[in-house]
Amino acid sequence: MKSKGFWLSWLLIVIMVLISSCSKTKSKPELLYTPNMTNSPALKAQEQDSKDLNYRANRIPVPGTVPRDYEPYPYATADTVGPARELINPLLPSLSILQTGQKYYNTFCIVCHGPKGDGNGYIVPKFPAPPSLLTEKIAQWEDGRIYHMITKGRGNMPSYAFQLEPSQRWAIVHYLRVLYRAAHPQPQDLEEMQRLKLDFTEDEPDTSTVSRWPKK
Ligand code: HEC
Repeated sequence: MKSKGFWLSWLLIVIMVLISSCSKTKSKPELLYTPNMTNSPALKAQEQDSKDLNYRANRIPVPGTVPRDYEPYPYATADTVGPARELINPLLPSLSILQTGQKYYNTFCIVCHGPKGDGNGYIVPKFPAPPSLLTEKIAQWEDGRIYHMITKGRGNMPSYAFQLEPSQRWAIVHYLRVLYRAAHPQPQDLEEMQRLKLDFTEDEPDTSTVSRWPKK
């Protein structure tokens, strides 16, 4: 006499073989364990949503919604540069802050202002040449004024307030100082580079291999 457990495990094996053969023979299994997950109504951010009036998967937040830890920026327009220039950069230009600045500069600014900040971005000449950030003028600008420029934009330059958090904008400001110094090196900078055997060629991101647009 076999035990109950023996027959039960046989029964389980038979059921499992039946279920797995169902799903193997057809490309689409007929038996769905969790139909809600298989046919999930979730949409990716940029997809179309046929249920939305404007086919938008991205919903517009309820009016008045603000992100967590949001602090209102008091200088509403590009013309309020006067008071904005007095804003103090809360960050010190440590190596990690500069690396953060480089990361976000290379994400958001590089297309127009170029890897070196000379205004020679990948989008030029399709886009009317953006100004160089390596000028004496920008060197004289207070950190707050550059921060205001990133926050509010001006003319053909859009605002980056939605893409960049305040600390990321301030880190970029520090990084712009580095780009300026790299374009105007002091004799001791060059000596230091030779001593450390640095050449910074790898700092420039290589975008030559991947080009998805425009499609040929
Ligand atoms: C779409 C292209 C574009 C992008 C991206 C862009 N800018 Fe600009 N930027 C411009 C243009 C065009 C101007 C000149 C605006 C004007 O004529 O008023 C400008 C002006 C500036 C100025 C003032 C220069 C001057 O001499 O007055 C600063 C500083 C600056 N940008 C920094 C940045 C930073 C930092 C980023 C990234 C967060 C950035 N820009 C991203 C196009 C761009």
